[in-house]
Amino acid sequence: MNNISIIGTGNMARTIAARAIAGGNTVEVMGRDRSKAADLAKALGDGATTGDWGTAPAGDIVIVALLYEGVVPAVTHYGDALAGKILVDISNPFNSTFDGLAHREETSIAQKVADVAPAGATVVKAFNTVFRHVLEKGRPDVFLAGDSAQAKGSVEAFIESLGMRPLDVGGLKMAHWLEGAGVITVGLANHGVGNLDFALSITEISELPV
Ligand SMILES: NC(=O)c1ccc[n+]([C@@H]2O[C@H](COP(=O)([O-])OP(=O)(O)OC[C@H]3O[C@@H](n4cnc5c(N)ncnc54)[C@H](OP(=O)(O)O)[C@@H]3O)[C@@H](O)[C@H]2O)c1
Repeated sequence: MNNISIIGTGNMARTIAARAIAGGNTVEVMGRDRSKAADLAKALGDGATTGDWGTAPAGDIVIVALLYEGVVPAVTHYGDALAGKILVDISNPFNSTFDGLAHREETSIAQKVADVAPAGATVVKAFNTVFRHVLEKGRPDVFLAGDSAQAKGSVEAFIESLGMRPLDVGGLKMAHWLEGAGVITVGLANHGVGNLDFALSITEISELPV
């Protein structure tokens, strides 16, 4: 069992929280609008609690489930309240036409979070390549990136508790490419696949035909 805090009260917050509870984890919800957080905690039931925006989260793993523009400002606002926590950035910084990233440099929201996170906090990028409704019902592969093997191990255990397969893509600088994979996912939905009912996944080929 993991203690999870979720910063955000939107669709991804609700979906990850519901799966987390179903997986036997405890969940705390924090939102800039406390009444929305309280409503979500009440709807989740099963002991879900509400925390105050900007105060120390109860969970060891803190999932920041905000629109990308709000992620770095929120982590900055929380400041030392996040010391020692594992911060999971799930955001997709899409450009206005959803066919590229909002930032031009080879960076990521996760790396920007690491720049403002307090001492002892570690950052992991995860969940951004999975559509919300797939996360709600499916068992997709969940790609993650981060510099701390220990933090990634904790997030992997959490993902496994959701009945999903975590797949580590490397250090935090790989978050840039995970954000790119988010763009690929939308491109596939709009073109080759033509719908949202899929997730990027890995198939291991044990025997290739000669
Ligand atoms: N939906 C998906 O399929 C999906 C899949 C993978 C990743 N993601 C990523 O997950 C994150 C959340 O997506 P979502 O679908 O849950 O969005 P959503 O339903 O629109 O919820 C957005 C949340 O962000 C908060 N927020 C927005 N701007 C903010 C700001 N400037 N400061 C603080 N809080 C702010 C909102 O709070 P208020 O209600 O107070 O406005 C709300 O709690 C996004 O970064 C998205 O890219 C989404």
